[in-house]
Amino acid sequence: MSQVHLIDHPLVQHKLTLMRRKDASTSSFRRLLGELSSLMAYEVTRDMPMQDIEIETPLETMTSKVIDGKKLVLVSILRAGNGILEGMLSVVPGARVGHIGLYRDPKTLTAIEYYFKMPGDMQDRDIVVVDPMLATGNSAIAAVERLKEMNPRSIKFVCLLTCPEGIGALQAAHPDVPIYTAAIDRQLDSHGYILPGLGDAGDRIFGTK
Ligand code: URA
Repeated sequence: MSQVHLIDHPLVQHKLTLMRRKDASTSSFRRLLGELSSLMAYEVTRDMPMQDIEIETPLETMTSKVIDGKKLVLVSILRAGNGILEGMLSVVPGARVGHIGLYRDPKTLTAIEYYFKMPGDMQDRDIVVVDPMLATGNSAIAAVERLKEMNPRSIKFVCLLTCPEGIGALQAAHPDVPIYTAAIDRQLDSHGYILPGLGDAGDRIFGTK
């Protein structure tokens, strides 16, 4: 089974609590999501490969470490995933960005792809898929399946919130993909919402309700 990384840093937990409140405004929800995404990026990039380069300090030459941000691709599952991009890019500004759009077929309930745009040379890149909510897992599973066709070096999945059902589904379909989350909530309701959750992430980010 893939690993589940629960990011329980007090700053992350504090901001998530503020976001969950139903009276949080669109602007504060979006700002908190940005801050939280930057904090989560620290954890997600912890094992990123580094290389030694030679630099000149004001006093002497030394060998020092850098990451190759260009090898990293943040893949946003539209549309709510876009709420995570900016915060993560503030920490890894060299990262490339891909977008994947999926909708649920009302008859078959399967995820249908309507948009897919990735950088080139995906076989040399490490992918971080972002979506605030890992609920039924259907979009996450379909997105990872599609991305695996491109043979990337690695794939991680990052969400703000998930539940046992979402974790179980993604782990069963993709046991090699680690999951990073700030919380594991109690359960899904009959409409596929996470309880207690924070409501519809896309609507709360974009103010569309
Ligand atoms: N998507 C959301 O935006 N919220 C949920 O609770 C579940 C899926």
